[in-house]
Order: sequence, then structure tokens, then C-alpha cells
Amino acid sequence: MKRVDPVQARNLLLSGEVVAIPTETVYGLGGWIYSEEGLKKIFSTKERPFFDPLIVHIDSIEKARMLTSEWTSIHDVLARHCWPGPLTLIAKKNDKVSSLITSGLDSVGLRCPNHELTLNLLSTIDGGVAAPSANKFGKTSPTSSAHVEQEFRDAVAILDGGSSQIGIESTVVGVKDGQVEIFRPGFYTAKMLKEILSQNGIEASVVYAESPVAPGQLKHHYMPKIPLVIVPENFVWESHQSEIENKLAGSFSRPVIWKQPLTPDLASRELYQKMREFDKEGFDIILAERSGHHFSEEWLGIWNRLEKAKSLAL
Ligand code: TXA
Ligand code: MG
Repeated sequence: MKRVDPVQARNLLLSGEVVAIPTETVYGLGGWIYSEEGLKKIFSTKERPFFDPLIVHIDSIEKARMLTSEWTSIHDVLARHCWPGPLTLIAKKNDKVSSLITSGLDSVGLRCPNHELTLNLLSTIDGGVAAPSANKFGKTSPTSSAHVEQEFRDAVAILDGGSSQIGIESTVVGVKDGQVEIFRPGFYTAKMLKEILSQNGIEASVVYAESPVAPGQLKHHYMPKIPLVIVPENFVWESHQSEIENKLAGSFSRPVIWKQPLTPDLASRELYQKMREFDKEGFDIILAERSGHHFSEEWLGIWNRLEKAKSLAL
């Protein structure tokens, strides 16, 4: 596997290659926004359909403003407070942004990632780097360079920045008529964003939206290799085995009960790593236990991923 340093990564990106880049959320599969070849390679490498728009990674608010035609005070307050960090802001794009990135939408998703290596790299690049998560479309997102390597073998050069500290993808946020809509839940919850805006004199509603323009919201996503079933607390396999086998049209003999760690921070950090481990450890079905406290807002990002990764919920 090709491990590269930030200078080599820059040269590859500018010459129209893709490079896997570390971020605090998950690894991204980067292409330079001004290289049509690089952008197309992102889609072909991931086997990602063109209708799914990409997030552009930048290292400053100034660069975000350079790529957009409307940067509201809501964008500005959230960027100043949350960047670098796990928040993607959607804003009206200008003509510097290729429609390949936005799938033809008139808006672009922008994010300044909180990772030193990638920030260094981005500071040497004109415009920004478009990067979806560095996994095949619909599969589990990578939180280490080893995960990227398992997915793409020698096809992709990697800027190795260790393990991702947040562990699930950024909160994706749009602004419409002065209100904030969350298209994908993540580390930043509606409550946190509302609070940040309020502290800066902006009283806006912040709501969760299920949106067809955020294909990360497709029903199946993040799927592990073995079926994942969401089960209630104190679940007994033997009492439900035949029901589950019927519903999934398979037979399973090595179930694993998956209990989440105590805090959402710990849970998100290890979520995708765990999803990849279970099948390697010889289990053939994952029973993800959902407890009462998991229904609170700060667990939403985690359970959103588990809901998309599941084959069944009891
Ligand atoms: O944490 C992250 O956001 C990671 C790292 C690499 O930065 N990236 C990531 O990218 O998760 P991806 O492509 O897997 O997910 C991008 C999400 C998708 O749900 C996409 O539909 C949404 O952002 N998105 C991007 N641009 C959009 C736009 N203009 N309007 C609505 N949704 C948009
Ligand atoms: Mg993804």
C-alpha cells in the first residue's frame, strides 16, 4: 500500500489522482475540486452513483466563502464555533464548484476537518478537496488507514493520520429561510447548534429533516458483512432465534450481543471498528442491544448509523 506524506498527497491530488485523507470523523477519499479527472475517480473508485453529492474540505472560512454565493450569519456563526470540527455546512454554491461535486444541486456541502495532517495538506491547495468517506458505496466507513487498505488494496494512496477520534461522519446542516435543518445527525446535535446560535444572538429553529437530497439518508448504508439485528435490552437469543432465522431466511449459530459503551463519545469512536470486527471473530449475526437511554438526542447519530446498517429490528 502506498503511504504518502502531505507533499506527495498534494502532488497526487493536483495531478488528478485520488488520495485517502484522515479526518477526525472518518477517512475521506479525496480528489482536487478543480480536477475533473480526480472528481470522476472518486465516484469510480467508490462505485458511488453520481446522484450522491460530495463534501468539499477546506482549511478556512475564507475558502468556504470563496466557493459560495451566499454565506449567511448562521453559516458564519456555526463555522466560527464548530470549525475545525465535525460539522458540514450546506450553502449556495458559486460557479467555481463543479456540478460533479454537487450532483447538479445549486448548493455545496463544506467542512473544515479537525486533523492536523489534513489541515496542513489543505493549506497548500487552491480551493479544496472533495471527499466522501473512503469506503465502497453503502459499506462501513473507515476510521483507520488499515480499514481504507482493506477496502481499496493498492488502488488508493493513503495519508496515514492514525485512528479517527470522533468515529462517525459529520453532522450535515442546511440553512433555509433563516432556519437550520439537520440532514444527517452526528456529534453536533440540534440542541448544541441552537445553543451556539442563541449565544451569538441568533434565535433560529434547528430541526432534524429526512431529506431526499441527502443520500447518506438512503435506507441501507454502512452495512457490515454479517446481518445486524437491533434488539431490546435483556434479549434472549434462544427465544427469538427461529423468528429471526425465518425473517432473514438464513440460519445462524454464532450470535454476538453488542452492548454500547456508556457514553456516546466512546460509542461513536469504536462503532465502525466493531462492525468490522465481529465477522472476523467468527460470529455470524450481530445483536445490537438498544437501551432506554439510547433514545436521547446525543445518541441519535450512533443509532442513525445502526438503523441504516441493520437487516432487521425486533
Ligand atoms: O465526516 C464526514 O462528513 C466525512 C469526512 C470524510 O469528512 N465525509 C462524508 O462524506 O461522510 P459522504 O459523501 O459519505 O457523505 C456526505 C453527505 C451525504 O449524505 C450527502 O448527500 C450530503 O453529505 N451532502 C453533500 N452535499 C450536499 C448538498 N449540497 N445538499 C445536501 N446534502 C449534501
Ligand atoms: Mg459515506
